[in-house]
Amino acid sequence: MTTTLTLRRPDDWHLHLRDGAMLEGVLPESARHFARAIIMPNLVPPVVTARDAAAYRDRILAALPAGMDFTPLMTLYLTEETDPADVAAAHAAGLVTAVKLYPAGATTNSASGVRDFDKVQGVLDRMAEIGLPLCVHGEVTDAEIDIFDREAVFIDRVLDPIRRATPGLRVVMEHITTRDGIDYVRQGGPDIGGTITTHHLVINRNHILVGGIKPHYYCLPVAKREEHRLALRAAATSGEASFFLGTDSAPHPDDAKESACGCAGCFTATNTLSILARVFEEEGALDRLEAFASLNGPAFYRLPPNDGTITLEKDAAPVAYPARIETGAGPVTVFDPGMPLHWRVRP
Ligand code: DOR
Ligand code: ZN
Repeated sequence: MTTTLTLRRPDDWHLHLRDGAMLEGVLPESARHFARAIIMPNLVPPVVTARDAAAYRDRILAALPAGMDFTPLMTLYLTEETDPADVAAAHAAGLVTAVKLYPAGATTNSASGVRDFDKVQGVLDRMAEIGLPLCVHGEVTDAEIDIFDREAVFIDRVLDPIRRATPGLRVVMEHITTRDGIDYVRQGGPDIGGTITTHHLVINRNHILVGGIKPHYYCLPVAKREEHRLALRAAATSGEASFFLGTDSAPHPDDAKESACGCAGCFTATNTLSILARVFEEEGALDRLEAFASLNGPAFYRLPPNDGTITLEKDAAPVAYPARIETGAGPVTVFDPGMPLHWRVRP
């Protein structure tokens, strides 16, 4: 017997597509299921100006296979030199949907990020005025702060002060990994939302470290204790408007992951919806998957939900998906949820 579930077509509110051969290889994995995605700007060099964003958007659209329908929602990478007028013009032209804040040194390609937050106050004030959201990688980078505490410390030392200093600034706390992050967003009113990844609903830190180091489960912010994973699952499946899907699907070639200094990132674009359906079913919340994946994100970004739908079907036979995809930049391992998946997206 087959059970089905039809949803508005989902969007991914945090996605890494990279560039060149990697972009060509991974783009169809997202475009197959998702109508739109917020595209992360952490290329080398980063997407800093409106002109950079326009050029990158054109490269994404050029890499999109014929017949696929996908809209990249572009972001600008905030630096201490970002010009508020350039940001406002890019927003007015409909070219960018958000600006991304990386604390300098926090993660992959974040060297051009922000060290001195006073230097970006002018941009933040302008964004608050025009209603342009700030997407935040919420980790401090101080060497003395334990990596598992970096998100919670960021909320107190950076995020809350920024929000107090910038009334009206709309903020997305991205890839929340802690109960602290969930609580902060939940209490923060309509100007703050939070994205949750697929993989953080599935793994805790034991998955990375027990029985041998598992580089394909290493990402940033790093997965935390089980109690935090459970808080993320409760929030994602609650239907609450503040929480929505941002997969943070982040491809790296396998040799860069399986290395003495492996890159951070889990590649989940291929099987995200099958995993989410299983998670929501386990939580007795299949009826709230649409809110998380298709409705809450557009509402936060003040965009209409998609017109089209997708249908998921549950079969007794597990879904077959590749262990890795081949790209022109090398093989990329697909996130292994460690359990059989039975929900597939009807082609
Ligand atoms: O795991 C991650 N990978 N976290 C990030 O913040 C960046 C991303 C990437 O670009 O690979
Ligand atoms: Zn990311």
